Amino acid sequence: MKTIEVRASRPYAVMVGRGLLPALGETCATLVKGRRAMVVSETTVFPLHGAAAVASLERAGFDTVTHVFPAGEESKCGAEFLDLVNDLAASHLTRSDLVVALGGGVTGDLTGFAAACYLRGIAYVQVPTTLLAMVDSSVGGKTAIDLPAGKNLCGAFYQPAAVLCDLDLLKTLPGAVFRDGCAEVIKYGVLSGRALFDALTPETIDESVIAACIDDKRQKVEADEFDNGARQLLNLGHTLGHAVEKESCFTLSHGQAVSIGMAMIARAAARFGLCAPETAAEIAAKLAAFGLPTATAQSPEAILAAALGDKKRRGDTLTLVVPRAIGDCVLHPIPVAALPDWIAAGKEG
Ligand code: GLY
Repeated sequence: MKTIEVRASRPYAVMVGRGLLPALGETCATLVKGRRAMVVSETTVFPLHGAAAVASLERAGFDTVTHVFPAGEESKCGAEFLDLVNDLAASHLTRSDLVVALGGGVTGDLTGFAAACYLRGIAYVQVPTTLLAMVDSSVGGKTAIDLPAGKNLCGAFYQPAAVLCDLDLLKTLPGAVFRDGCAEVIKYGVLSGRALFDALTPETIDESVIAACIDDKRQKVEADEFDNGARQLLNLGHTLGHAVEKESCFTLSHGQAVSIGMAMIARAAARFGLCAPETAAEIAAKLAAFGLPTATAQSPEAILAAALGDKKRRGDTLTLVVPRAIGDCVLHPIPVAALPDWIAAGKEG
């Protein structure tokens, strides 16, 4: 097992290994004084792993209740949030008790936000069950629900008390969902450098690779917990990715969209002389090797319209993350008026 210590405003450990879910209770018992816990999960994950989580907590002396909501992004909404905090209240959890988020990004984001708000903050532990949640959303304390106006528009920075990445849980993950996580893994390869990037093949996504991705995220979270600088590098591929995801009416998965966004931004960077054409080609080839898409048939006008609604836009400026080389990405502010040229260059190559 590898342990990564995140020194954020609230320090915590991210454990990466196998057989961690059966030891969940033991780990949680060291984190809080209370002995009441709620396991929050959704209708796909709970039948697979819920019983193991509850049994482990009860073995460690936790009086455990469960809250299971419908699987899917639609559940990251105000109604499910209120349902969850009401259930925490009805279950009489106190500030010394604990909430466990067992699931993918939707579960982690919704549970983390409820934990941030209930009693103005109760400890929560992330047990991510998807590759994407392990390497990205479970670490760093970004919690949120979606609003009708857009994704993640209502949330809080609220760090977990611990994160348990049990690789055994990936065995039940459908191939397409695993591939989605690979897009984020490749993102870390491009951000962090040759050692990780060159090691990435569909067969090598193991404990070391996952730990390396989390360690890259740790560095950025420690440098910029509240997302005003270095942490924004984690948005590599996301500005154009979110736009094509939205324009597809979410028929493209997040991983597919980020993959297209990463390939497009690299092609545009090459077109504008900010990186070598070989770098853009290498990034696209890596994504394609994992069966991820690198282009879209969507029109530049449609991508632009979707990109203009990006919540990371500040006034007339949008900050892109541009790869100059593998392991050398920079924040690159552009006037919003220049975005059509970037989209055109990203589409054409
Ligand atoms: N998912 C990007 C971040 O945590 O900042």
